[in-house]
Amino acid sequence: MHLTRLRGFQDLLGADARAVRLVEDTARAVVERYAVHELRIPLLERIELYQRSTGETSDVVEKQMYAFTDRDEAETMLALRPEGTPGVVRAYIEAGLDRSDPEQRFYYGGPMFRRERPQKGRFRQFHQFGVEIFGRADAACDAELIVMIDELRRELNLELETQINSLGCAECRPAFRAALLDYGRAHLAELCEDCHQRLERNPLRLLDCKIDVKLAAGAPTSLDYLCENCRRHFATVERLLTAAGVAYVVNPRLVRGLDYYMRTTFEIVSGAVGSQSAVVAGGRYDGLVESLGGAAIAGTGFAIGIERLALAVAAKGAVLDAAPHVAMVPLGDSGATAALGIAQRMRARQLRVELLSPDRGLKALMRRAGKIGARFAIIIGENEVALGKAQVRDLAASVQREAATTTAADIDRLIDEIRTVLAPT
Ligand code: HAM
Repeated sequence: MHLTRLRGFQDLLGADARAVRLVEDTARAVVERYAVHELRIPLLERIELYQRSTGETSDVVEKQMYAFTDRDEAETMLALRPEGTPGVVRAYIEAGLDRSDPEQRFYYGGPMFRRERPQKGRFRQFHQFGVEIFGRADAACDAELIVMIDELRRELNLELETQINSLGCAECRPAFRAALLDYGRAHLAELCEDCHQRLERNPLRLLDCKIDVKLAAGAPTSLDYLCENCRRHFATVERLLTAAGVAYVVNPRLVRGLDYYMRTTFEIVSGAVGSQSAVVAGGRYDGLVESLGGAAIAGTGFAIGIERLALAVAAKGAVLDAAPHVAMVPLGDSGATAALGIAQRMRARQLRVELLSPDRGLKALMRRAGKIGARFAIIIGENEVALGKAQVRDLAASVQREAATTTAADIDRLIDEIRTVLAPT
């Protein structure tokens, strides 16, 4: 029996890998323009970190974590990270930044693990690219995060919908929670099993229940209960988004599935990726740093679901072209030596070059050059080496000519010609 990959785990090859890479590279380039700096955190943490942040009442902690006991004497319970925010907050506190230099802007990326039911756009190992900003309690920071995502959206040439909401704060949330609880209790008999169970612990989840949609539609929402400060904060976010030309809708039922949010929350959704339509999600989490043992520092951030955004990109057919520009076709020992030198010079000038095996015949090598989609095949045999030349074949145009390759200047001239054909100006 041969071994297969686990359910919900993916191998990414070819165009799939390139779409993911395009999203990651573009995200990194965009956020670096916003002066956000990279942070790398471990994949494995103590399970308490997630229990105390993502939250005991979240689906993620309740039923989706890959958790196991370590082999140490204390039998420490560990978990593969289901999301990046808790690890980033832990690292921030552990580095003492909450006290020494609280205003920080971080980005991070990599695999996350959740034991969910796999379907299109939902995997058990998936990748996020996230941004977390500390020490900024102002609404302008929330708005800037959404502007950042909108810039990424434009660079990837996607149409996405930005949904925003405010969940209120420690001052106004209790009244909202109580109203929701009253509403839930009044409709107890109609609630789905999940909501029935979690009503007392986390009534907010009723609002985004996929089953109790009708009930949720009539439920009170946080916007009706915002205190003056939260109302002003949300109005500022809206004003700045409008000023920045970012289209958005207010979705009062957007409560998010993780426990640490307050005030601004948002999700960016795509119509191109099926039912798992949230491609980016985030919000404000003032209070989280303190609850994990740090100082009382504000936090806000988001995470991109890389595979989901890559699906949206692939649906547009906009994947990176990775075919080699040149297939070097060496024949015999002297051909192999000359081809290596030319290939290195081409690579130094940014051409993608695959140097083929000198141990095969011309016919097999030309077949390989066609198969890998190379635009040019450059053939160098013993004869060519003796004459200081190469045969240059444009495989797309099916024309072949000879080019001098004796001196560095000859090779540079050939490279210039190839580059002109690849990117005509
Ligand atoms: P989240 O909503 O749990 O938030 O995940 C963020 C994004 O990750 C989702 O919108 C989705 O695109 C992607 N995602 C989540 N689960 C899966 C899955 N099973 N398969 C594929 N993609 C998935 C967070 O994780 C927060 N840490 C975001 C945040 C950062 N809030 C503040 N800072």
